[in-house]
Amino acid sequence: MPEQQSTPFSADGPTGIWADFRSDTVTRATPAMRRAMAEASVGDDVYGEDPTVNALQERIAALTGKEAALFCTSGTQSNLAGILSHCQRGDEFLTGRNNHVMVNEVGGAAALGGAVPWPLEIDEQGCFTPDDVRAAVKEPDQHHPVTRLLSLENTVNGHVQSVDQIADLIAAAREHDLAVHLDGARLFNAAVAEGVGIDAYCADTDTVSLCLSKGLGAPVGTVLAGDQDSISRAFRIRKMLGGGMRQSGHLAAAGLHALDHHVDRLVEDHDRAGRIADGLRSIDGMEAVHATNMVWATPPADHHDGLVAHLEAAGILMCFWKPTLRIVTHLDVDDGHADLLVDTVGEFLGRT
Ligand SMILES: Cc1ncc(COP(=O)(O)O)c(C=O)c1O
Repeated sequence: MPEQQSTPFSADGPTGIWADFRSDTVTRATPAMRRAMAEASVGDDVYGEDPTVNALQERIAALTGKEAALFCTSGTQSNLAGILSHCQRGDEFLTGRNNHVMVNEVGGAAALGGAVPWPLEIDEQGCFTPDDVRAAVKEPDQHHPVTRLLSLENTVNGHVQSVDQIADLIAAAREHDLAVHLDGARLFNAAVAEGVGIDAYCADTDTVSLCLSKGLGAPVGTVLAGDQDSISRAFRIRKMLGGGMRQSGHLAAAGLHALDHHVDRLVEDHDRAGRIADGLRSIDGMEAVHATNMVWATPPADHHDGLVAHLEAAGILMCFWKPTLRIVTHLDVDDGHADLLVDTVGEFLGRT
């Protein structure tokens, strides 16, 4: 059985749901995005003939300061193609214990590519240190896998790592000739929060994966960017994974539209998450941590189940991960939804 919560959706969207804060992946394409998708010039991308896919790939290559880029179906496919472009069977990659490639991608790098993940311990913000990286690299020894790659993530659960933090981690990896992949599913959130260009984060990586279907609001798609050799290898792996698409320019058009219209506005999502966290903290017994477009809220333990039932009955969705609630802001929620959430929590805890 899928683990997603079952919700009463109709073809036009959720019914009986007032505000969906489960993830920034739940957005629906805006009317302008749908027009851009419908009107896109397309060709067969397996033949390299889709002008809109080519334009998106060139755009992301330029934005990241990389030689090439590859349009993938999802963040999972893009991370897998990126990791396997660096690792052979039996090679090891280092990554954070709770990073998405470690725990949420079905073990694909190990199952399909024979690459062995080595989890690094993390702090409360999901970070590990350059010394953690150095200490995890295996000595050359017939018993060990060859440590080949460091796989980073930014943001991690909404938490931003600065450009300097990422540069220090990469420097530690380079001391041991490791390749570096960055899962940037929400790297635009990090860049906007830090007030830097996305290229500042990508400069020293070999490959970087950027999702268009999270905060940027496209219905599908992730782009892997890197040097030409890495992307050429990833291109073959994507094909092996069934990711060679045909007139995918219709999808790429959504990504181009998102880059034009939905990057600068991420600051609104961050501010709105801050508004929710402030509101929740003002309610007796509620704790809330704000990180970019996410809020991690902890109600009093004995009220958790009752609060979840109350929110669901009110049509407000979030990830109810006991003891914590994850609330994510995105294109399809506004200040009215944010205030409704805070008022509904306050109303429940005020009367318990
Ligand atoms: C940090 C991170 N990386 C990768 C992914 C995978 O993206 P997708 O769902 O498109 O496969 C996600 C999805 O939520 C994510 O949060």
